[in-house]
Amino acid sequence: MPTDEAAPTVRLRFRGLGPGRTRLFPFERDGERLTGILVDASGEPRAYVNRCPHVTYSLDMGDGDVMDATRKFLLCHSHGAMFLPESGECFWGPVVGKSLEPLPCRLDGDDVIVTITPEPPDWP
Ligand code: FES
Repeated sequence: MPTDEAAPTVRLRFRGLGPGRTRLFPFERDGERLTGILVDASGEPRAYVNRCPHVTYSLDMGDGDVMDATRKFLLCHSHGAMFLPESGECFWGPVVGKSLEPLPCRLDGDDVIVTITPEPPDWP
């Protein structure tokens, strides 16, 4: 995904997170306070906006838990949609085929730099 050099970024610690582990982080976009999800997808960082494409609720129930019990998949706790950590694509639940909104990220030493991109016009 191309990144905008002028877009805001968020720096997060990635080293030590571990497979299946996540870190939620706050950010603001167009005056709206949102939460992002950083996930270790088999050693690779992936970042998504913490909003389900079903009803745009946060995946967690306010407790920061966005994974299923096996810690292999991202889970929306509202209606059970499950997403692949690697791509954010829903493979089970009410929005199969739709995806979480990805945020570009790149490794920088022990950290990850997440770029806050504009909301896609066709999302969700
Ligand atoms: S809001 Fe996520 S599955 Fe319904």
